[in-house]
Amino acid sequence: MSDSKTSAASAPFGTVFGARLPIARFDGENWSAAEIVPTDSVSFGVASHCLHYGSECFEGMKAHKQQDGSVKAFRADKNITRLQKSAESLCLPVPPTELLEELVAMAIDANEEVVPSSPGSLYLRPNLLGTDLNIGAASKPSKTAALYVLASPVGAYLPPHMLRIQVESNIPRTTPQFGQVKCGSNYAMALGVIRKAAAEFQADQVLFAPGGFIEETGAANFLLLEEGHIITAPLSGSFLHGVTRDSLLQLARSLDWKVEERPVSVEELTAWCQRPNAEAALAGTAAILGGVGTLIVGGEDHQVGAGETGPATRTLRDMLTEIQVGKRDFSFA
Ligand SMILES: Cc1ncc(COP(=O)(O)O)c(C=O)c1O
Repeated sequence: MSDSKTSAASAPFGTVFGARLPIARFDGENWSAAEIVPTDSVSFGVASHCLHYGSECFEGMKAHKQQDGSVKAFRADKNITRLQKSAESLCLPVPPTELLEELVAMAIDANEEVVPSSPGSLYLRPNLLGTDLNIGAASKPSKTAALYVLASPVGAYLPPHMLRIQVESNIPRTTPQFGQVKCGSNYAMALGVIRKAAAEFQADQVLFAPGGFIEETGAANFLLLEEGHIITAPLSGSFLHGVTRDSLLQLARSLDWKVEERPVSVEELTAWCQRPNAEAALAGTAAILGGVGTLIVGGEDHQVGAGETGPATRTLRDMLTEIQVGKRDFSFA
């Protein structure tokens, strides 16, 4: 793994890993001290609760190389709180904030030599697993758990082209009451729909709009933009509350843009595409802010505005990435 830094830029996102993994375990009563182990040395029993009953959740965040060479996690507190909420929803032991902060800091320090320079970054994947060895515990939570932070030096996540997104109005991404929980099963449940959209429409992703109102895509939130204006679905329990979404809305408000968090119907979405300056984008830690060129609604292509990354997307993306690498100051609420 010593060549992680150089290979990360060309390897597919998330396939190269730092060699050192900070980990702590919960024995049913107490968390162990965090320790660093070789990433490829960790093993779990095949009877682990997480492998049978889905008792696992995770986070996705990034640490960025700063102007002065130091490495800083972006809004780690938000991901830590979200992981704690996910743990609670899945009846997993909730890790204390200080332990999560320590593990994140250890993951950065221990893998510092593989952090790529901007636009690359160190993607951090905190992962909490139910580890009780009990395949009879279908209706009992796991008392024990493992918590680690996997580090992955990454480059771009999205393909370089403008995205084609299929709008799915019938099937939700996942069970609505678990939409804001970041657990692996949510992603697995969406795979069939995403794969079908790719096969039938060459779609890069699916925008889920159950009941005819847009929510989010399979791995990012969704925004409509034009200069001075941004619209996105209001937070609800049925989709993930993205840190990137929140950050971009704060930036837009700081620029005195009109920021609307309100329901957007699929009809409004298709009408939006007709506006000459219309833009649409996916917002997420991995995606950052990725321009959508085409929305596929009812099997028909709708080009979004000029079908190119527009000035609103560029302005917010540049601001966000400059803040992340310490080139620009901003205090997020
Ligand atoms: C389903 C889903 N929605 C939204 C997001 C965006 O969240 P964040 O900006 O915190 O990365 C992600 C990204 O991880 C995601 O997987």
